[in-house]
Amino acid sequence: MGRTFFVGGNWKCNGTSEEIKKIVATLNAGQVPSQDVVEVVVSPPYVFLPLVKNELRSDFHVAAQNCWVKKGGAFTGEVSADMLVNLGIPWVILGHSERRAILGESNEFVGDKVAYALSQGLKVIACVGETLEQRESGSTMDVVAAQTKAIAERVKDWSNVVVAYEPVWAIGTGKVATPAQAQEVHAELRKWLQANVSAEVAASTRIIYGGSVSGANCKELAGQPDVDGFLVGGASLKPEFIDIIKAAEVKKSA
Ligand code: PGA
Repeated sequence: MGRTFFVGGNWKCNGTSEEIKKIVATLNAGQVPSQDVVEVVVSPPYVFLPLVKNELRSDFHVAAQNCWVKKGGAFTGEVSADMLVNLGIPWVILGHSERRAILGESNEFVGDKVAYALSQGLKVIACVGETLEQRESGSTMDVVAAQTKAIAERVKDWSNVVVAYEPVWAIGTGKVATPAQAQEVHAELRKWLQANVSAEVAASTRIIYGGSVSGANCKELAGQPDVDGFLVGGASLKPEFIDIIKAAEVKKSA
């Protein structure tokens, strides 16, 4: 079962409209493999979504960085999945560790959001990952399994879900997981899906790695059998994002 390589760019809370236009122009000029080799999705802040959607090349897609847990209404400051669908935004990132940690989003809350977003027709990049303390105490797989379980309990159809394994200690730190560390968790996650969801979902769901991915380390990571792509933060704002997209070629020749 083919898992098309997936590269997401998480722009986080960065950019002015001028800077965003520059990034889009760089992406539009980039020479990258075709869509059957790599799926590319970039995620600007909410306010820039229409601008990016309008100016971005048609073989790349856009994602929001979050959405509200249910239908809109009296929830000041929130953006609902329905609104993203209305604007033609196909993807959303949910459960990013910055939101889990800073805004206190629980596993259950993230699971509810994933289920609601999917029910409205959005595709979801669902993030999981352990902190340094959790890794050092040997609980990485327990943490990642609990985060995934909260999603699995609420979601039946996994065809529009990409799981992003993002160890918190590797995000924005320049301290990338080694290819072996990434592969180990990805393989365990796939085993977890096989045991707790189904063999088919385990075989077909893309598990992508995030945390200090760069032009320099992406090829080696992409060479791991269970690494199906990346969620890229800092480097997705730079021209090297094109090189990271090209890492998909490692899979093609594997
Ligand atoms: P980073 O961020 O690539 O800057 O480490 C990754 C992420 O938070 O998705």
